[in-house]
Amino acid sequence: MLLQEVLQVSRSWLIAHDDEALSVEHVQAYRALEERRLAGEPMAYILGRREFMGHEFHVSPAVLIPRPETELLVEKAVSLIREKPTARVLDLGTGSGAIAVSIALACPEARVVATDYSAEALDVARGNAQALGARLEFYQGSWYEALPEGKVFDLIVSNPPYIPLGDPHLTQGDLRFEPAVALSDGNDGLDAYRQIVSGAGRRLEPGGSLYMEHGLGQETAVCALLTAAGFRAVHSLPDLAGILRVSGGHF
Ligand SMILES: C[S@@+](CC[C@H](N)C(=O)[O-])C[C@H]1O[C@@H](n2cnc3c(N)ncnc32)[C@H](O)[C@@H]1O
Repeated sequence: MLLQEVLQVSRSWLIAHDDEALSVEHVQAYRALEERRLAGEPMAYILGRREFMGHEFHVSPAVLIPRPETELLVEKAVSLIREKPTARVLDLGTGSGAIAVSIALACPEARVVATDYSAEALDVARGNAQALGARLEFYQGSWYEALPEGKVFDLIVSNPPYIPLGDPHLTQGDLRFEPAVALSDGNDGLDAYRQIVSGAGRRLEPGGSLYMEHGLGQETAVCALLTAAGFRAVHSLPDLAGILRVSGGHF
């Protein structure tokens, strides 16, 4: 992948030309990228892109690298929007825009709004929406505070920061390079769910839905928050690895 990037060629070209001599400049450029990777920097940041839902998203260290398991939340949203194609949809904490832009592309009649606390992340999301030809609105601020008063939705989705403070994963692998605000709530991993669930009632149409991605083993706590807030038919959905990854219900 690094050599493809340096030479700007396809993987099949690389395989078919494995005896081709490299210029000194190309070798130097390759070594520079290799050094970054050997220092642990994620491929997505080195290459500046990551595929999600079949689309290529630009990513920078200002945003979380979209994860394959998050496609489950998008698929759930798209299946709900099929029942009401003009649905008003809110993605809280959009990061690169992976969820919101994918929904907008899959459901062109839906009116999709995306927010983030980070202005830098919103710039990345706006760029992705433009590059991929998706139409959506963006607002900056903390959860619902970002939104104009009175704006309501048929569906709210979110993949908020859910890693508890002090979790050893935060100091390992790709996570070392990702924005802290995208990974952890600085508390027990449930703060964002408390805020998103407790504020949802004022922002959902009656019968509207809220679905959120969460970490391994958080489904019981997230479902309890939803039930206590008055959500009906609260349930969790497994990802492709069989891990309960998304929980939600109807208001
Ligand atoms: C786990 S990342 C998810 C990014 C993207 N939705 C995805 O799934 O790839 C969480 C996002 O929530 C944002 N965030 C954190 N605290 C927030 C807050 N108080 N209000 C709004 N967004 C927040 C972060 O900036 C980050 O972009």
